[in-house]
Amino acid sequence: MIGLEIRKVTVVGAGLMGHGIAEVFALNGFEVTLEDAFPEALNKARKSIETSIDRMIKSGKIKQENRDGILGRLAYSSELEKASSEADLVIEAVPEIMDLKKDVLSKVSSSCRADTIIGTNTSNFRISDLADSVKGPDRFIGIHFFNPPVVLKLVEVIKGDSTSNSVFEQIFGLMKELGKVPIRVFKDSPGFVVNRINAPESLFFCLVIDKQIAKPEEVDHFARSNGLPMGPYELMDYVGIDTVVHSLDYYKKSLSPDYGKCHAFHDLYNRSELGLKTGKGFYVWKDGKAQIPPAEPTTKLDLMDILAVEINEAAKIVEEGIALPDDIETGVKLGMNRPFGPVSVASGLTNSEIMAKINSVHERMGLDVFKPAKSIESGKLREIFAKKELASAEVPASAAESPVTEQPKQASAYETLQLSREGKVAILELRNQKLNLINAKVVEDLERAVEEISSDREIVVAVLRGSNGIFSAGAELSQFFSSVADFMNFSRRGQTVFKKIQDSPKIFISQMEGYALGGGFELSLSCDIRFATEDVQIGFPELQRGILPGWTGTQRLAKLIGMSRASFLILSSERINGKQAHDLGIVSRVFPKDTVGKETMDFARKLSEEVAPVAAYLAKVSINRGSETPMDSGLWTEAISMGLLYGTEDIKEGVGAFLQKRKPEFKGK
Ligand SMILES: NC(=O)c1ccc[n+]([C@@H]2O[C@H](COP(=O)([O-])OP(=O)(O)OC[C@H]3O[C@@H](n4cnc5c(N)ncnc54)[C@H](O)[C@@H]3O)[C@@H](O)[C@H]2O)c1
Repeated sequence: MIGLEIRKVTVVGAGLMGHGIAEVFALNGFEVTLEDAFPEALNKARKSIETSIDRMIKSGKIKQENRDGILGRLAYSSELEKASSEADLVIEAVPEIMDLKKDVLSKVSSSCRADTIIGTNTSNFRISDLADSVKGPDRFIGIHFFNPPVVLKLVEVIKGDSTSNSVFEQIFGLMKELGKVPIRVFKDSPGFVVNRINAPESLFFCLVIDKQIAKPEEVDHFARSNGLPMGPYELMDYVGIDTVVHSLDYYKKSLSPDYGKCHAFHDLYNRSELGLKTGKGFYVWKDGKAQIPPAEPTTKLDLMDILAVEINEAAKIVEEGIALPDDIETGVKLGMNRPFGPVSVASGLTNSEIMAKINSVHERMGLDVFKPAKSIESGKLREIFAKKELASAEVPASAAESPVTEQPKQASAYETLQLSREGKVAILELRNQKLNLINAKVVEDLERAVEEISSDREIVVAVLRGSNGIFSAGAELSQFFSSVADFMNFSRRGQTVFKKIQDSPKIFISQMEGYALGGGFELSLSCDIRFATEDVQIGFPELQRGILPGWTGTQRLAKLIGMSRASFLILSSERINGKQAHDLGIVSRVFPKDTVGKETMDFARKLSEEVAPVAAYLAKVSINRGSETPMDSGLWTEAISMGLLYGTEDIKEGVGAFLQKRKPEFKGK
C-alpha cells in the first residue's frame, strides 16, 4: 500500500521553490529534510527560511515561541539517498531540465521505501514523461506549487497516466491540510492548467514583437493602463527570458510546432539578455526595477485579444478532459493573481463575440494554435464551461483501479431544477419529485438559475416548465416554520425570487400543464407569457388551507385580469382549465397536451431569433413599471426607453434589415 500517513517530507533541490515548499511543510508541523547537491544552496535556503519566519513573527502571523519548533523541524542534507530513505513523501524541485529530473527521480525511487509517495514540482513537463525513471510510477504525481510557495495558495495536483487515484486524492487532501487551494489536473498536458493557458499568450506577445505590431513599452503601458499590475514583457523579464524560452521549446515538441515559430525571445536568450537576473532583457533593470521607457499605450492591441486567447485555451483544456472549468477559473485567479479568470470573462460574452475575437487573432498571427477551440466553433462554449464533472469517457483509465475518497463537485448545479440551453433559449425545468412542489430549496435554486439566465448574454427567451406532465402543484406545506416571522419571511423570500423573473431582461414563457396551483400558479404569473394545455388545472386553493396566495398572487393576478375576476378566483378557490384561463386573459395560447411542449419551444425559438433583446427588456420594464405607476410616469418610462434604444446597434440593424427586406441579426447591443 502506497502512502500511509505522511509525517516526514523530503524536498530535493533547495532553490527558489524547494526552500519555500520545505518552509510550508515545517510551518504546518511536518518533519522536513531539505536536500541539495550544493552546500551553498543549502546555506542560502536556511537563511531565506529564517528571514521569512522572522518576518512572519514581526507581522504577527506566527508567535515568537513557535520559532524554534518550526526551525527545529527542518533538517538540511547533501545526501540524496539517505534523505529519501527516511521520507513518507519526497518532492523533487531541481531545475527544469528533463534529464536532470529523471536522474534525481531514479535515485530517489531506488532509495526510498516502496510506499513513499514521490512528487515533482515541474512547471511544464508531463508527469508521464518523467514517470519512466520512477520505480513504481503509480506513486508518482505532480505537485505544482506557485512562487512564492509560502504566499501563493494555489497548488496544481497533477495525475500522470500511471498515478493511482488513491495517491491523487491523498495529495489533494494533504494540500488542503497545508492551507493551500489545490486544483485537480486529471491529465498531464504540458503546462497543466495555468502555464498551459500562459503558453499561447507568451507566443502571442513574442509575435507582437516579431511582426512589429507594437513595442514592448507600448504594450506594457497599455497593460498597466488597463489595471494590470505588470505588463507582459516586464513580467517575462522578471520571470527570466531563459525560463520562457525553455518552456516554448518544450511546448514546441509537446504541444504544437507553432511554439517554435517566433524569434524575439530567442534573440534575447542568444544574447544572454535574460531580464532581471542579468540586468537586461526587454528592459534594463536597476535596483530590482525595470526601466521602462515612456511611451504611448499601443492602440494596436485590445485587452479582449488576450482574454480571447485565454478563453480559447481554457476551452481546449476542458475539451481534452484536463481540468474542470471551476478549477481553471481558480487556477488563473490564484496563479496569475487576477480578480477574474477566463471562465467568468466568457460568461459575460456571447459565443459569437468570442469566436469573432479569436478568429481575428488567428488571422493576424497566422498560426494554428490560435484557431478557435472545437466548442467555440460549434457554439457550445457555454455548455463546456458549465461542466461540473468529467464524463466517464474522459476519466483516465487508472481511475477505475482504486476507490476515490473524495469526488469532484456534484454533476448538477441545481438539486431541484434542470437548466439547459438551446441556441438563444434557456429551458428551466422544475424537477422536484412528482408534483414539483415548491419548497425553500426550490426557491433557492430558482433564484440562482434565474440569475444565471439573466446574466447570460446569449439567451433571449427562457421557457419555464415542469416535468412528468405537471408544472407545479404549489408550495410544499409540510415544511416547519417556528414563528409568524418565519412564515412571513418565507412569503417575502418567494416574492423576491419570483419578482426576479419579472425583472429579468429575458422574456420568460411559462408552459402550464397538469397542475398550476397555488405557488405554481404564482410562478407562472411572474412570467411574461403563459401557454397552457387545454386540461391544465389552474387555481388558488390557499384559502381552503387557511393561508392566502403569498408569493405575489394577490397582486399579480388582480393586475392581470382585474380585481373582480381575481377576487373571485382567490376567494372561491375554484379551479379553471386552460381554455377558461385563456378566456380570462391569463394565458395567451392553449394547446393539446401532447403538443404543448413542441409548440412552446417552437414559439420560444422563433421569438429568440426575431426580437431585439434590449428592446424586449425595455418593453418588459415599461409594461411592468407602467402597471404600478400613474399613466404619465409609465409614459415617461416608455419614452425614455425609446430614447435609450435610439443609441443601440440593434436599432440600426432592425431598421436597416426592414428597409433591405432581410432578416435582422440582433446582437443585444
Ligand atoms: N521559479 C518559479 O517561479 C517556479 C514556479 C513553479 C515551479 N517551478 C519549478 O520548480 C523547479 C525548481 O525551480 P526553482 O526556480 O526553484 O529552481 P532553482 O534553480 O532556484 O533551484 C533548483 C535547486 O536545485 C538544486 N539542484 C540542482 N541539481 C541538483 C541535484 N542533482 N540534486 C539536488 N539538488 C540539485 C540547485 O542547487 C538549486 O538549489 C523547476 O522544475 C521549476 O520549473 C519554478
